Amino acid sequence: MKKVSLLLTLCLLASLCYLDASAQAKKAAPAAKKSLATPQLGKSPVKAVIKAMTLEEKAKLVTGMGFKMPAMRPAPKKKDTTGAPIPAATPPAFTLPPVDPKDDIPEKVPGAAGRTHAIARLGIPSITVSDGPAGIRIDPIRNGDSSKTYYATAFPVGTLLASSWDVNLLKSVGKSFGNEIHEYGADVILGPGANIHRNPLGGRNFEYYSEDPLISGSMAAAIINGIQSQGVGTSIKHFAVNNQETNRNSINTIVSQRALREIYLKDFEIAIKGSHPWTVMSSYNKLNGPYTSENPELLITILKKEWGFKGLVMSDWFGGRDPIGQMNAGNDLLMPGTVAQTKTIIDAVNSGKIKMSQLDANVERILNVILKSPEFKKYKFSNKPDLKKNAAVSRAAAAQGMVLLKNDGKVLPLKSKKIALFGNTSYDLIAGGTGSGNVNKAYTISLVQGLANGGYTIDAGLKTAYEAHINEAKAKQPKSAMSFFMLPPPIPQLEITPDMIAQQAKSADIALLTIGRNAGEGRDRKVEDDFNLMDSEKALIKNISDAFHGAGKKVVVVLNTGGVVETASWRDQVDGILLAWQPGLEAGNAITDVLSGKVNPSGKLATTFPIKYEDEPSAKNFPGKEMPLPAGEKPNPMRGRPSEVTYEEGIYVGYRYYTTFDVKPAYEFGYGLSYTTFKYSDLKLSAKTFNGSVTATVTVTNTGNIAGREVVELYVSAPVINMQKPAEELRAFGKTKTLRPKESQTLSFTLNAKDLESFDSARSAWVSEAGTYTVKVGASSTDIKKTEKFSLPKTIVVEKVHNVLKPQVQISELKK
Ligand code: BGC
Repeated sequence: MKKVSLLLTLCLLASLCYLDASAQAKKAAPAAKKSLATPQLGKSPVKAVIKAMTLEEKAKLVTGMGFKMPAMRPAPKKKDTTGAPIPAATPPAFTLPPVDPKDDIPEKVPGAAGRTHAIARLGIPSITVSDGPAGIRIDPIRNGDSSKTYYATAFPVGTLLASSWDVNLLKSVGKSFGNEIHEYGADVILGPGANIHRNPLGGRNFEYYSEDPLISGSMAAAIINGIQSQGVGTSIKHFAVNNQETNRNSINTIVSQRALREIYLKDFEIAIKGSHPWTVMSSYNKLNGPYTSENPELLITILKKEWGFKGLVMSDWFGGRDPIGQMNAGNDLLMPGTVAQTKTIIDAVNSGKIKMSQLDANVERILNVILKSPEFKKYKFSNKPDLKKNAAVSRAAAAQGMVLLKNDGKVLPLKSKKIALFGNTSYDLIAGGTGSGNVNKAYTISLVQGLANGGYTIDAGLKTAYEAHINEAKAKQPKSAMSFFMLPPPIPQLEITPDMIAQQAKSADIALLTIGRNAGEGRDRKVEDDFNLMDSEKALIKNISDAFHGAGKKVVVVLNTGGVVETASWRDQVDGILLAWQPGLEAGNAITDVLSGKVNPSGKLATTFPIKYEDEPSAKNFPGKEMPLPAGEKPNPMRGRPSEVTYEEGIYVGYRYYTTFDVKPAYEFGYGLSYTTFKYSDLKLSAKTFNGSVTATVTVTNTGNIAGREVVELYVSAPVINMQKPAEELRAFGKTKTLRPKESQTLSFTLNAKDLESFDSARSAWVSEAGTYTVKVGASSTDIKKTEKFSLPKTIVVEKVHNVLKPQVQISELKK
């Protein structure tokens, strides 16, 4: 209370007026007229505006306006699918720092994640940031008035989009997404997520793209370019090495400089250099010691100096511990911002712990983003994005990223119309993950609905039984504000008697069975009953397969998951497997598009599916070890326990490990089937000796009788001279246009010195070593169709960088 009143007094003394964002814009103009001497943002140079700011104003600008848990907002009068009102959620088990009463004013965009302070006298408006990577996350019903809604498009999740291997697709999704953000009044979207899939249990993997930095960085760049083309900003997150949720606010990640540079920072580097996001979000974790948000080596030396990032860095929500360290590390904006942080910063400037020049630098970056924002430009958002058009974009994108894992006897595309549809999620598809990555969408098309829309006949008895079972189970699920972080337990599979299955095997032409998984922030997945199938699911697969195969009929499994699951133990029992991921709000329609053959699948895995969890190179180091709480410290569910994780697998992440150590996965990186076949021919290199660059061309021909697209993957095996190297690394990729039967396309890939480099920690430099390089062009990381070689006569030091982010302990890294 004392702190609040002190701050209020300071505010009064400084004649500050922090106004509601919508009101302040109107009032800013008269203020400007009154005193022409007061610089105005946009009219006067940014530096002049900064010069005119008081310390308190600066400290307010670098700390957001605070945050209230959704449960603390007035509860919307919502109804569930049965029409029954949803009871108000029980309050969370933890408390958040209080919001300054002066800042407790209506949001411009209710349900957005945060906003910055307006400073009306200087013409500085408040900008609004909103989650998240798969669609804008805002309150769909406001003040209990459901006559007007604000539902958003749930686009497919990151894993699905990346499996398209199609940067043009991501750019076009980004354009629709960006337009929706613009029309709903937000300035910056808190996404995309670009952390590497280090381990299949990562709770937020669905928000991220890939185990490979080139795919991850290229996808992130493409969607950022699309979103930002609409006049709104992005916040690529979580920078960096946020590869797990367990103890995410306390974990110290210990990782070598080489693995950092080649894997965990590389995709951010590609994305940031290729798309100039307006903002970067630092992560919750510590990295080789300090919190990422308090580490100038990461945020200033690498991000701002080496990579030339010009935007602002914001913290993750309540991330880090020390606002002084954060300011000094160039974490420009603390989100969502607390009263205590503002005060700490003021005191620290007064006592010399933060230099005014540092605070000014942070303020300048924030002002430069505000200048570009729709709010600054007084954009009159409609609250009426073209949801129909965006749903169509979401549906088309979803179909492009699904991966056909198995198609024995050409079971797909579906040949007959009468389907026995099993599995809870067939009737209750999962459009996307939970937490801040969840989108408040108006609907999710179930598979049963999608199939019906596609003209298929579904057994009505099964439908009734499944729907009743799901509704009943949902009504019993506990409702709590913590459900943002705590997924309700999955609904047990409907028990189907052998008689019922036998009857279906008689009456239907084919069985479809969906296996679903959900996950989200705050928690990692687990091996039992999550990565591995549950016993009930395995029994369902077996019983259905036995009965249908006994009747001479086929079985197809649809995987509705945000991440990787075990497939090796049951895949032989079924004829087809479609990995549909979490496909956004048009889920059922998009899956039907692929099952029916309306869309020929062309997605490929951007993440390895191992045979068993223990095969994963990171399995023995995930999620790390917990340490005792320091004496006197009470457990805090928001903070987690002190803990550390060591990335002993080093650079051998995903296929880099499987191909180097000859471990056979269930489905390898880059794998995916099509309803047609392709031939690769004429791989040619522009030169046999590298001289600045080398260009590879390859021709792909559709040799089947259905039109289709092929992802073409170019791997390079580099010579092992002074440094270990993975057996191969993806250095380029492309995707053909839709090729008609017999049609060919020649794709061309240029490799520069940068595309051959490895990180030499001893020299703190990117180095391409002299020797023979093998270019391997293929349909997956192991299905290599053509190879060619070229030589690099002299070692090239491609770039010298700073010797920073050194681990403070010895890591016993995996070596070949
Ligand atoms: C998440 C971020 C998100 C932020 C704001 C945090 O808990 O880690 O990804 O953008 O909340 O909702």
